[in-house]
Amino acid sequence: MKGFKIILGILAITGFFLSIVNVNAVPTHLDRTKVQTGCRTCHKGHGVRGTVLLERTKDELCLKCHGSGSRHRDIYSVIIKPSNHPVIQTSRYHQVGEELPERNPTMPRHVSCYDCHNAHRSETGEPIKGVRGYSGKGAKIKRLDNEYELCYNCHSDSANLAPDKNIALDFLPSNASYHPVETYGRNHFVPSLVRGYNTSSIIKCSDCHGNDDPGGPKGPHGSIYSPILKARYERASGPESPSNYALCYQCHNRTSILNDESFKAHKTHIVYNQVSCAQCHASHGSRSNPHLISFDFSSVVPNSKGELAYIPSAPGTPRCLLTCHTGGRSFEHKIDPTKMQYCINAKCLTGW
Ligand code: HEC
Ligand code: HEC
Ligand code: HEC
Ligand code: HEC
Ligand code: HEC
Ligand code: HEC
Ligand code: HEC
Repeated sequence: MKGFKIILGILAITGFFLSIVNVNAVPTHLDRTKVQTGCRTCHKGHGVRGTVLLERTKDELCLKCHGSGSRHRDIYSVIIKPSNHPVIQTSRYHQVGEELPERNPTMPRHVSCYDCHNAHRSETGEPIKGVRGYSGKGAKIKRLDNEYELCYNCHSDSANLAPDKNIALDFLPSNASYHPVETYGRNHFVPSLVRGYNTSSIIKCSDCHGNDDPGGPKGPHGSIYSPILKARYERASGPESPSNYALCYQCHNRTSILNDESFKAHKTHIVYNQVSCAQCHASHGSRSNPHLISFDFSSVVPNSKGELAYIPSAPGTPRCLLTCHTGGRSFEHKIDPTKMQYCINAKCLTGW
């Protein structure tokens, strides 16, 4: 029985080796010019119970070379930033061969380096190559094509995740609007887009979720901005500045937004009334409203007629029926029944 297991182990390793020498580019960790000691850098002895004995436990193995002060991209000092993927805290719950999305509702939420990287297959410039994924709609993918399929392993249909945290629902192509992660966006008039982006662009989760230090290692490991954001994004009302909404201004030109090139009242709201983008816009998508409109209900409530709605009309001049509490004041938006005009408090707008 023991001999049989060893033969199986040898077969597994030879088969594995043949499968990797077939590919053209050499994966980084199997490249002798980069990792001199080959397989035994990470493996010692032979297989135990169908697994391959690792030289160190779990993520410590990776942090040996990717730890603080290492030459090989220090991930440790990023993964311990205030907002992070809790690898250090939870990787001990990871099991070899575990199923994702998680099916056990009582399993603690967890994540490890192995979940997002395949140490046998990653290459320079392709850090998540060879990792499994999930479509967000029931299909498991052996080796992912798109980054979001990696994230949906744990941020969509997991039994140990609250249903309102299912991120895949935010990006459904059937939604009224969404940032173009799974497919092209729905709007053909987005004048604020900076050079390099247009309405046929596809963006990645990691374009927004990543390291706040642009010179440090890339990837959604950790950031000083929560939730793991690459740049600052103030979600409460307050003064406008290039840094307060830096995340959005990476791709949306600030001058265009504040010159009201699309919404004719952007500047009034953002600059004069200090309304944050987040009080009107969702960052991922909106099931029912165009233009990522999703009001923040902690400041936006129904108006005196009980209405709370976004009604698109001519481009740039939609009507909103609601009351907004911001900066210690209230702004009621309604159709005045006597004048049949769109009014904000006592001020009625002509031509809107
Ligand atoms: C940089 C570290 C590293 C190097 C180098 C490495 N491995 Fe691995 N290997 C791993 C890790 C980590 C796992 C476990 C993956 C998991 O648990 O999901 C693993 C798993 C395996 C397995 C189990 C099946 C599988 O694919 O998950 C085999 C077989 C294997 N390695 C063979 C090899 C061989 C042969 C080499 C040399 C050509 C090698 N490894 C080099 C880190 C490494
Ligand atoms: C023996 C040292 C060593 C170990 C152990 C190690 N790495 Fe690496 N890793 C490297 C080197 C060297 C590079 C290339 C760095 C560069 O190009 O600047 C690298 C690069 C990477 C990259 C970037 C993509 C690529 O393939 O070039 C990823 C992702 C990565 N490692 C993940 C891991 C994970 C996950 C583990 C643990 C299973 C691990 N590494 C263990 C040395 C190591
Ligand atoms: C193996 C599981 C796993 C995978 C894969 C994964 N995550 Fe996570 N993620 C977690 C866990 C666990 C947390 C901690 C919070 C929680 O339990 O949801 C987390 C937290 C986050 C947070 C912070 C949320 C907050 O409220 O602070 C963001 C943002 C995030 N992940 C984005 C991503 C992105 C983007 C990807 C794909 C590139 C991804 N995740 C892939 C497990 C995973
Ligand atoms: C008071 C609500 C409100 C606030 C606050 C707000 N927006 Fe908008 N935004 C809108 C509406 C409404 C539209 C759609 C207008 C139309 O086309 O009919 C829009 C459209 C957009 C568009 C798409 C068209 C374009 O200009 O390229 C972008 C991008 C945008 N907003 C970004 C932002 C950013 C960034 C902020 C914060 C700095 C922000 N918005 C703050 C309501 C708001
Ligand atoms: C355009 C930028 C952007 C993109 C692209 C993006 N996110 Fe986010 N994400 C944000 C912002 C901003 C927040 C926090 C504010 C909010 O909840 O709206 C957030 C919040 C989150 C959270 C925490 C939500 C919660 O309920 O606690 C997770 C998890 C997350 N994103 C995962 C993802 C995944 C997975 C993808 C890709 C499929 C993705 N994000 C794409 C900007 C983005
Ligand atoms: C939640 C998923 C996730 C986890 C957990 C994770 N990574 Fe990453 N990592 C990524 C993604 C996605 C990228 C690529 C980002 C990009 O393309 O911009 C990346 C990039 C990297 C890179 C390349 C950085 C560069 O600048 O080229 C290294 C090295 C790396 N990861 C190592 C690790 C190690 C070691 C761990 C565990 C301590 C780890 N990662 C945990 C998702 C993850
Ligand atoms: C990585 C680049 C990137 C970042 C960062 C980004 N956006 Fe976008 N955004 C885009 C692209 C590309 C489109 C065009 C999609 C389309 O054609 O419908 C877009 C479209 C939009 C739209 C219009 C959607 C529609 O259907 O009308 C709004 C509103 C918007 N973004 C708001 C924001 C806000 C708010 C932030 C900051 C939280 C932000 N964006 C951050 C790339 C980005």
